[in-house]
Amino acid sequence: MEPIRKVGVVGCGLMGSGIAEVSAASGYPTVVRELNDELVARGRAAIERSLARAVEKGKRTPEERDAALARLAFTTRLEDLRDCDLIVEAVVEDLATKTELFRTLDALCPPRTAFASNTSSLCITEMAARTNRPDRVLGLHFFNPVPVMKLVEVVRGVLTSDETFERGMAFARSLGKEPVVCRDTTGFLVNRLLVPYMLDAVRALESGLGTVTDIDKAMQLGCGHPMGPFTLLDFVGIDTTYRIAEIMFQEYREPRFAPPPLLKRMVLAGFHGRKSKRGFYDYSGETPVPARLGL
Ligand code: CAA
Repeated sequence: MEPIRKVGVVGCGLMGSGIAEVSAASGYPTVVRELNDELVARGRAAIERSLARAVEKGKRTPEERDAALARLAFTTRLEDLRDCDLIVEAVVEDLATKTELFRTLDALCPPRTAFASNTSSLCITEMAARTNRPDRVLGLHFFNPVPVMKLVEVVRGVLTSDETFERGMAFARSLGKEPVVCRDTTGFLVNRLLVPYMLDAVRALESGLGTVTDIDKAMQLGCGHPMGPFTLLDFVGIDTTYRIAEIMFQEYREPRFAPPPLLKRMVLAGFHGRKSKRGFYDYSGETPVPARLGL
């Protein structure tokens, strides 16, 4: 198996910053690309905050934090990723954007470079088929918060070679993660089960079954979930969940994947969850309170 000596991460938002952090903390020189200087600064600050938190929680030593930061390089130029052995993309969940990115990288990188997508719902085979290295494209789907969540879904597209797939499994393990083997099906394993659950919680709210706080409390205390479904929706992002649900509904045409009307209205209103300070809860004060949703 060809070794992975250097890693590229494209996109340094919620997921990309986490992937870059664990990659650098696991010993890989890691080049992170964002679209402009402002996004680079924001991504770098998110990684620094997370590493500081890991030190605070006793998960890493200050020396490990400093070593991880020293392994990170930031850029706005895709050309700076050309000598990476593996490039993980975590850009917006849009097929055209991701395929265009892989096509550009395909022209820049040597044949040995493997491309991984952190997509949670788009088709790996479609992204692979648009490159000249379809055997070297796979899915590596991480979970939020990346430094904490142990799982990586490793996705084998129709065209992914056995070697590329095994490289992906080995890479996930080298980050201290537990990989699971996934076929290239929309939503893979986790979102296939999680998305209908979160959408059902919204439908329960719409139909007056209970309040946001009571439904959250019920699932948290009744099932031992770390978060209730609305806290989780706010955490994942309302806009992200809406987009994933739409993609899953288009693929399966099953009502359980159809985004409920309230979700769409929340996206339109800018209630994107924790990141926009408003979702099912309002995060502008010291402790979150249920948001006014016009119900
Ligand atoms: N680096 C390393 N470890 C860290 C850390 C960091 N930056 N920050 C926190 N931790 C560790 C803590 O030390 C703690 O570890 P121990 O339990 O061993 O002490 C653990 O992580 C939990 O941290 P906290 O105590 O600070 O926080 P918490 O107990 O409130 O838990 C949570 C926070 C981990 C987010 C928890 O609420 C949780 O698991 N929520 C569910 C998250 C989830 O379901 N994510 C998946 C979403 S779906 C998705 O991502 C995919 C998709 O496609 C939509």
